[in-house]
Amino acid sequence: MSKDTFYSAVDIGSNKVYSVVARIGTEGELKVLGTGLVPSQGVQKGRIENIEEVRVAVSASIEEAQRYVGKGVISGVYVGVNGAHITCLNTKNVVENPNDIDDLDPTLVDQLIESAAPEVNPTQEIIHMIPMGYVVDGLALVRNPAGLHAKEVEVESHIVLGDAAILRNTLKVLDSDRVGVGSLVLSSLASAEATLTGDEREMGAVLVDIGGGTTDITIYRQGTPWYSSMIPVGGNQLTRDLAVAMRVPFYIAEEIKVKAGAAMPELVQLSEEVVVPGFEGQPRRVVKRRALSEPLHDRVMEILKMVLLRVRESGLRHIPSGGLVFTGGGAQLPGLCELARQTFGVPVRLAYPRGIAGLPSELQKPNASVVVGLLLWGIKHYGQKRTYRNGRNVERPRQVEKSRNGKKGGGFRSLLTGRKKEEQKVAEEVIVD
Ligand SMILES: Nc1ncnc2c1ncn2[C@@H]1O[C@H](COP(=O)(O)OP(=O)(O)OP(=O)(O)O)[C@@H](O)[C@H]1O
Ligand SMILES: [Mg+2]
Repeated sequence: MSKDTFYSAVDIGSNKVYSVVARIGTEGELKVLGTGLVPSQGVQKGRIENIEEVRVAVSASIEEAQRYVGKGVISGVYVGVNGAHITCLNTKNVVENPNDIDDLDPTLVDQLIESAAPEVNPTQEIIHMIPMGYVVDGLALVRNPAGLHAKEVEVESHIVLGDAAILRNTLKVLDSDRVGVGSLVLSSLASAEATLTGDEREMGAVLVDIGGGTTDITIYRQGTPWYSSMIPVGGNQLTRDLAVAMRVPFYIAEEIKVKAGAAMPELVQLSEEVVVPGFEGQPRRVVKRRALSEPLHDRVMEILKMVLLRVRESGLRHIPSGGLVFTGGGAQLPGLCELARQTFGVPVRLAYPRGIAGLPSELQKPNASVVVGLLLWGIKHYGQKRTYRNGRNVERPRQVEKSRNGKKGGGFRSLLTGRKKEEQKVAEEVIVD
């Protein structure tokens, strides 16, 4: 990490594109040099649908962020990726130290991790291979085997995969601005990076980032990511529900939701009233705020049920004891955390990036968790060889040795379609840790 190095991050969300350029100050603090927050276009549920529209929004956002640093600085950008094409799996692989008379040095550890990369379908790319833990010559629960003398190491890794063509579209959008992409990072992992405390990571926690088009989930367990997934429903669906219930256009429903929305009708005083602005010749109206919160409550409950299903799908029976950590613009709905706490009986909090020296207040907001996390990810992994390169195949070092039993991953694979009924059924059971 160098004080002269610029770190850049771009979060291409369904509702906004957020860019940040920063460097590290003399005291080790973050020095944010510029931010660019612009409305997003051409992104549907995390997926780029219209490259030209996204390009325009990304250019505007980056331009704004680098206004005070000058052009040409943006290189090695950390970019968030998201969408239903993302899948994850956990693998266990045994690899042998090729020089078994040597200690495991960090480079060798990296090579061992990379050699455990699973074979993936040619239409997919590995975005992340995150080591979760090691068994070194039979000694379990080793967090970092570097420096140990070992003949054989078992690596358990969290693997995140994405559709190669879709990932290439993200790179295309940025390449057009002559912006060098440093790495693609799964948005929910970035969000977790900016918000989860050390204790939450160790105890295990479910990070739930409610954006406009999607709700992204990352589950941490024993200090490392364990599961990543997304639900194709976010805050915009709440606005649509409100628009239908109130018989108003989307933009009015959005205004009312942000101003007076609530997820728990019973917490709203019966006397509270809200003015619904007039539109297209319709007069303004006054409605009960409690009536307004009914459809919002129902949709939030559905999202919570789907989160619970994902916890189950990850292989866990309970929500881990660190509880649910909500972030993202949509999580700001009053009563949402209370509803989750009441429903699941676990610790729940609304999170935003904080505890980061030098972080300006404009980035201490739930909708900035991804972009700040991308920046932190970039600083943490600066100079490390990335596993994903411009849409080409994953770069792997020489294969040391394949898994002895030929097992490619005893973990899970998250699939995101065709489970509506099952979701409903599983969600009926409230699991308390
Ligand atoms: N005060 C608020 N109360 C409730 N919802 C809010 C509030 N402020 C913003 N939102 C909602 O947050 C959502 C946008 O969140 P965010 O900026 O995190 O989305 P995004 O990152 O662009 O989308 P995605 O992550 O789905 O790609 C919108 O649905 C908006 O209505
Ligand atoms: Mg988002």
